[in-house]
Amino acid sequence: MLVTVGACRLELVQGDITHQEVDAIVNAANSALAGGSGVDGAVHEAGGPSLMDQTRREFPEGCETGSAVATAAGNLAAQFVFHAVGPVWRGGHGDEDRLLRSCYSRCLELAVEHGVESVAFPAISTGVFDYPVDLAAEASLDEVRQFLEQRQRPSLVRFVLFSDGHFGAHARVLEEMVG
Ligand code: APR
Repeated sequence: MLVTVGACRLELVQGDITHQEVDAIVNAANSALAGGSGVDGAVHEAGGPSLMDQTRREFPEGCETGSAVATAAGNLAAQFVFHAVGPVWRGGHGDEDRLLRSCYSRCLELAVEHGVESVAFPAISTGVFDYPVDLAAEASLDEVRQFLEQRQRPSLVRFVLFSDGHFGAHARVLEEMVG
């Protein structure tokens, strides 16, 4: 599914984020930047050890929840990986909406800072961190749409959803948003 926001494209696909041919892919990391399962495991596995070498060297304190840091992408097709730390779902009482939105906007800021034209996001926080996918889709797609409306960059933002259910949830929200 593809919509346009001014001159920019906002796209939903089903697939594996490590296979995307874009300038930057976003990793769903933890605040220690210590690696893990899910997207994090797949990104480090496909990118190789240089990613962890760089995060250990440049970000020994890790990264706070709601923010993101950039590294090179090692063996991946992308040039950069943005390691974003989403919130753990705590029933909606832990400022999760603001923190999740802030992950997406910080990654888009990093894209602009690095001159990146295309970025692929996973559904941050919707796996191990247990964020309900419908709510995550609403927050993330709304945040990205607002950023693109205001800044008109990057030219392509692609959400890469792993399962049918996650794809469907995002497609429903996006259809409602543009409909
Ligand atoms: N490509 C795209 N999406 C994927 C992939 C992949 N290769 N692998 C998993 N997913 C999906 C999951 O189905 C889920 O919808 O990404 C979403 C995010 O799930 P997680 O990777 O578990 O990320 P998150 O919920 O943000 O939890 C982060 O998990 O592994 C740890 O180190 C990581 O502690 C951190 C936590």
